[in-house]
Order: sequence, then C-alpha cells, then structure tokens
Amino acid sequence: MFPKDFLWGAASAAYQVEGAYLEDGKKESIWDRACRVPGRVAHGETGDVSCDHYHRFREDVALMKEIGLKSYRFSVSWPRVIPDGAGAVNEKGLQFYSDLVDTLLENGIEPMVTLYHWDLPQALYEKGGWKNPESPRWFEAYARAVARRLSDRVRYWITFNEPQIFIGLGLHLGAMAPFERNDDDTVLQISRHFFLAHGRAVSALREEAGRPLMIGMAPTGDVYLPESGSAEDVEKARRASFAVAPGAFTMGNSWWADPIFLGRFSEDAERLFGDRLPCFTPEEWACVSQPLDFYGFNVYQATTRFPAPADGYQDHAYQGSPKTSLDWNVTPDVMYYAPKFLYERYGKPIIITENGMAGMDWVSLDGRVHDMQRIDFLHRYLLALERVMDDGVPVLGYHHWSIMDNMEWARGYDPRFGLIHVDYRTQQRTLKDSARWYARVIRTNGESLAAPDQI
Ligand code: NOJ
Repeated sequence: MFPKDFLWGAASAAYQVEGAYLEDGKKESIWDRACRVPGRVAHGETGDVSCDHYHRFREDVALMKEIGLKSYRFSVSWPRVIPDGAGAVNEKGLQFYSDLVDTLLENGIEPMVTLYHWDLPQALYEKGGWKNPESPRWFEAYARAVARRLSDRVRYWITFNEPQIFIGLGLHLGAMAPFERNDDDTVLQISRHFFLAHGRAVSALREEAGRPLMIGMAPTGDVYLPESGSAEDVEKARRASFAVAPGAFTMGNSWWADPIFLGRFSEDAERLFGDRLPCFTPEEWACVSQPLDFYGFNVYQATTRFPAPADGYQDHAYQGSPKTSLDWNVTPDVMYYAPKFLYERYGKPIIITENGMAGMDWVSLDGRVHDMQRIDFLHRYLLALERVMDDGVPVLGYHHWSIMDNMEWARGYDPRFGLIHVDYRTQQRTLKDSARWYARVIRTNGESLAAPDQI
C-alpha cells in the first residue's frame, strides 16, 4: 500500500535537459567543456540545446500535470547561478529556477531541488575543482545563494547526486567529466572536501530557510541480491552491499553514506586505509554528519562490476537475459533489497530519487510511442517497492528517471530514458504509453499495480 501523500514523481538534471548553454549570463561547466573534446561524448553531441527545457519549461510542466506528477526532482546549474563558481550571483539564472518553482507549485507539483548534479563550473575546475581545499566553501556559498532565493517555496533538497559517479567515475576511474584518473590518496582528499561541502551546504540551507526543510542526498551504489531468502544469504548480500572494495572504493554505498549518516568511516574503510583516512575535527564531524531527513537513492540494477567480469556477463546476466538498451540488467528485486538494507543500516525514510530504463523508443505510425518494455519494467519495480513498504520500510516517494528523453552524459542522445519522447530536431514532445500507464498508477495511488498490463 502506498500512503496517501506518497510523492509520485519524475526527475531530470540541469545539464541533461536545459540547453541554453551560454544564455543569460551562464558560463561553462566541466560538461560543456568535456563534450567539445573529440571522442568524449558519443557522436560529438553536446548539451547546448538538448531539450531546451530552459525555454520550454512551462510546456513541460503542463505535461507533468497531465501525467499527474506530485513531485518533480530537478537540479540547479551552478554555473548558471554563479557563472564563475565563486563570487557574483547571476540574478537571471536564479530567476529561471524561481519561475520553474512557481510554475510547479501552481500546478500542484512539489519541487525537489538537487544542488549538484555534476556540472561543476569550469572556472572552479581550473582552480583545482574538488581537489581544492576551498571547494567546501565555494559549495556552501552557492547553496546559500540558491536557498536564499528558493527555500521559501522549496521544501525538499538534495545536496549531491551520486558521488559514486562524479568522483568515482569522474575523478578516480576517468570515465565521466572531467575524465581524470587520480590515485587513492588524491581521491581521499577529494572525499574529505566532498564530506565538508555536503555538511556546510546542509547548514547553509537550514540557516537560510528559517523553516523546517527536508534535506537528503542522492547516492547510488551497488546493492547485492541474496541467492535465496534464507537469513544467511540475506546477511551475505547485506554485507557485500556495504563493503568497501579495494580499487573501486568510490563505487560503494558505505564509503559515502557512513560518514554522513553514522558519523564515522566503516570498519572496512578503516581496514583498507588505516590512518590515511581523511581526518576531521570533532566540529567537522558534527557538521558532516548532522541529521538528514531522508535517504535518497538512485536505483537501476543490482551489482555491476568495474571492470566488467572477463566473460562479459555482469552478475544476474545470463545468455539472453532481460536488458535495457544500455545493457543494464533488469532486476526488480533490487527495488526491494536496496530500501530494506539502507533503512536497516541508516534508519532514515527512503526516497527513490531515480529509477528507470533506457530504451530505443520512437514515434510509431499512429503517432504514439509504444514503450511496452518500460511499462513492464516500471510495473515490476513498483511492485517490489510496494512489497518492501508492506514489510515496514518507510518510503516517501518514487521518482522516475526521467521525465523526458535527454542527454545521457557521455552516451549522448541515443539512450532514451523518458516518460516523454523528445524529437530533438523539432523539440516535439510526445507522451509515451508508459507516461499514460504511470498516470493511472498515480491516479489510483498504486492500486492499478494489482492488474495485469494490457495492450
Ligand atoms: C544516474 C544519473 O543521476 C543520471 O544523470 C543519469 O542520466 C541516470 N542515472 C541514467 O544513467
């Protein structure tokens, strides 16, 4: 059963949908720069125009209303708000988000703001980015500027999206902007700055708001599925889900979440790094681990291994197994075990901040987008979510990734994740069948999940 006030939502991120690349005072982010380096992004594609959400947000919010969304999670572009990353605030940039928030509220949709979804201002990158010990202060000032303007109307806040990816893949393993490989000790320094930046931003949000906010983070991370329902297997999967793996420690859950939610590094982390672990004064620990209101989680599939296993099959994959167009495994049970494990360890209500699948959707001759696979995917994952809620795990909301097709970072525009199809040549939006199906789920507050899907 889903509670009456369940946040049925969908999500996006600034760089992936906004376009308006250098408009109204915005300057470059590291992604604007990365996509100009040949070979970085598929087909040399860029976010310069993307879905043009910056200019079309009113039309997009009208479609969200048609779907019946209760919540829209979006991110603020730091270089739009503070073009040089630190210093002068760009009023026009803030105005865009303020207008978006007003439009959402007029349509009965709760705004949920992510402060950082990977688009670091290029100007800060040139000063060392997250390696610079000043970076927590830069982030705090940015958070403060956004909170000052929006916190009278925005209640739900997320500091960071997926440190596993922007630090793990971006600054450790070199597969996302800024495509750097750094040694462990450098990444330990970066981690220290990340934790402080998070804590300082939380303090800034609460100070500026002057009213209670709901603040969380939106990490991802490998979740292992038990081989059977036996207590022993479940415990094994739980332990693996919170392990800190040598060489890929940035990809796990506990590396990022334990300091923030438990105020300490895990035993695994201590074993791995000993006194190389970042040091914090007691005041810094208090700032880093100040209480949050929910645990946001982006969940797509159970365990992926970096690098992929030699036989080419990730866990849960087998010859001919169900996969999305990005080759990600369809593993609905992860929507049961992820909230369960995370709630048991961290004791916070869960918000699913992202879940969805990439397809190869196109507009059919009849003018509709028949994305039956997404409907089945969504159906299975939502049933698993309902099951874990019935087992007593508090879940406040679910956000489908994504509200509309958009730029899938280094993969460009081929993977289509949206509930809304976008023709990038014309900017024509088309509600996919999955959007209509999801609308019914929302209308019935999840009761329609009991019925089989029909063609
Ligand atoms: C995680 C990220 O937060 C989002 O930006 C991305 O597009 C989706 N997952 C799909 O890869």
